[in-house]
Amino acid sequence: MKPITMLDLKSEFSLVEDGVRTAIDEVLESQHFVGGSHVGVLEEELAKRTGAKHAIAIGSGTDAILVALMACEIAAGDEVITTPFTFFATAGCVHRTGAKPVFVDIDPDTFNIDPAKIQAAITPRTKAIIPVHLFGQCADMDAINDIAASAGLRVIEDAAQAVDATYKNRYAGALGDAACFSFYPTKNLGGFGEGGLVTTNDDALAERVRQLRNHGQTDQYHHQFIGGNFRLNTMQAAILSAKLPHLESFNGRRRAIAKQYDELLANVPSIQTPKIAEHNQSCYHQYSILADDRDGLRQHLTDASIGSGIYYPIPLHLQPCFQYLEYSEGDFPVSEATAKRILSLPVHPMLDDADVRRVAGCIVQHQSEAIPAEATGRS
Ligand SMILES: Cc1ncc(COP(=O)(O)O)c(C=O)c1O
Repeated sequence: MKPITMLDLKSEFSLVEDGVRTAIDEVLESQHFVGGSHVGVLEEELAKRTGAKHAIAIGSGTDAILVALMACEIAAGDEVITTPFTFFATAGCVHRTGAKPVFVDIDPDTFNIDPAKIQAAITPRTKAIIPVHLFGQCADMDAINDIAASAGLRVIEDAAQAVDATYKNRYAGALGDAACFSFYPTKNLGGFGEGGLVTTNDDALAERVRQLRNHGQTDQYHHQFIGGNFRLNTMQAAILSAKLPHLESFNGRRRAIAKQYDELLANVPSIQTPKIAEHNQSCYHQYSILADDRDGLRQHLTDASIGSGIYYPIPLHLQPCFQYLEYSEGDFPVSEATAKRILSLPVHPMLDDADVRRVAGCIVQHQSEAIPAEATGRS
């Protein structure tokens, strides 16, 4: 049977190939591989798209978070609040500035940081909050911004998975002090290598990020502070610009697939389909369900040549490298329970309706096979 995979970058490439090859040729002709007009064009396009005043292209999503934190002058002695249920980079970058990551549990429906639990984590050392728009759904930004405003904290969106996602009809990227995007090849807007972006409405922060990405250089060979090489290369910028016109239709297809799953899986009692807040429009970087028998279901899908993913199996407070933060199992029960039940299904835009029906059918079949076993007490 034809495998259904979590990604189909080859098929996607066939749709964008002409534009991408032209863009690559332009860069080759120019022999301009760092900076230049392609980077500026991409920045303008993405500023327009997110609604942010500034967009600054960065070498990766990870570096975008690091440089945004540096621009906010987060350093040793500071604390930054974020979620333990995220990709490692979110908290890893906080540590790399010298600051301490402070975790706050997630909302069981959206899997995003729970604003109701943030206040209790704020101390005199807290400088910023990093909400993560996990799987393409924005965090509850109004509540987070209110808490941050009353405590004098910066808000840095981790929008790595949320390009084109909206919150109350505003795009991710213009919902806090700064936002960080990733163009890793598997992302909704994926480059042909590493890539990232910082967006902000704050002129001073934008200026600082631009300087930091080029070793803190203010004028050539004049360094007011220490930055790094956080630049996006020209080839990636040109490729991303060429792919950008396809983003809306690709994300539209993801949403249609999600709707189809929602309908087909609505009555499967052991499954919870994604709960998208009414004011949000997800870009469905992942379509992640909660399943009672997650590992059994995953095996069942694998046996039917259907791919799936576990994002993320271990919450960050339980990672060995963060032992020094002295958290223990049980500290973030929602994140821990979610990590045990989460399963992401294929949702890439190259799936056709029959693929989606096959995945859903396989899940329904697993459920119907599981019920008699439970009913008879057999294991
Ligand atoms: C939530 C989140 N934050 C940060 C990153 C880091 O982005 P990158 O892989 O481009 O460094 C990623 C992506 O991998 C991510 O999913």
